[in-house]
Amino acid sequence: MATLRDDDRHHPVLDRLRMPLPVLDSLACPHCRGSIGPAGNALRCTSGHSFDVAKEGYAGLLTGAGTTGTADTADMVRDRQGFQEAGHYAPLASRIAEAAAPALADGGLAADVGAGTGYYLRNVLDRSPDAFGLGLDLSKYALRRAAKAHPRAGAAACDAWRGLPLRDGAVSALLNVFAPRGADEFHRVLRPGGALIVVTPGPDHLGELVGALGLVSVDARKEERLEETLSPRFERTGGEDAGFTMRLPRSDALTVAGMGPSARHLAPGELERRAAALTEPVEVTASFRIGVYRPR
Ligand SMILES: C[S@@+](CC[C@H](N)C(=O)[O-])C[C@H]1O[C@@H](n2cnc3c(N)ncnc32)[C@H](O)[C@@H]1O
Ligand SMILES: [Zn+2]
Repeated sequence: MATLRDDDRHHPVLDRLRMPLPVLDSLACPHCRGSIGPAGNALRCTSGHSFDVAKEGYAGLLTGAGTTGTADTADMVRDRQGFQEAGHYAPLASRIAEAAAPALADGGLAADVGAGTGYYLRNVLDRSPDAFGLGLDLSKYALRRAAKAHPRAGAAACDAWRGLPLRDGAVSALLNVFAPRGADEFHRVLRPGGALIVVTPGPDHLGELVGALGLVSVDARKEERLEETLSPRFERTGGEDAGFTMRLPRSDALTVAGMGPSARHLAPGELERRAAALTEPVEVTASFRIGVYRPR
């Protein structure tokens, strides 16, 4: 197969793919793990598996085997982006960027599994100016945005439960923010000395809304289960519990209540009816656990 380095013919696919070359070089075929390069109007691996590039600029690296995950819908992605762009989670984004910075001090790749719109990846790359980024997600609505998240980042469609389309040891910092995780694949793609950063909601996350809107609260055993999943492959080296108070217009309080799984048991319209009783600004606790791990 022709790769960019040994072939300077023009590949039209590179006009469409919004992906810096070091990021393209870090990809691996989801079928055979061969390296992936441009081939005419598509991407192709060394054994000939072929992949499309979406017109929005992300690589389509799904295997076609059917998906096992739950991709975010257009509405979910729009709501999440609106909430993030309003800055309500900015303190979390900057802590994630700080946590990733040591592993990216000499550059390297930051990959975000279940990246959504690429908001956290963008903050990581702003903080670590020599690093490149890759956003991975199952949702085409998320990927359309993730592909444009940062000039040093690209995006690819994948089903994280079926493996990650990355070469062994290609990643210096792996982000996983409220998204699917698999310890074996995370371990395979991280370089020795790399960092895995996992963010989960803390026990009092959105506590005020749990009471006022009748949401389901965070499962207290979640943290325990996370450690059980990761500990065969990873050792926890740091992290912090991050908490802050958000002052939200009622509409954003509704949005954040709808962003998690917590409101899905309510009848349609019920969340809005209960939210009408909230006084503005609505003070809401944001609480997160940021875990930093290194591969064993
Ligand atoms: C709760 S959202 C979090 C998004 C982002 N990390 C954030 O915090 O803004 C979970 C994300 O995981 C994606 N997702 C769900 N199942 C997936 C899978 N099997 N593989 C890859 N991504 C998946 C969804 O499409 C969604 O974007
Ligand atoms: Zn292949």
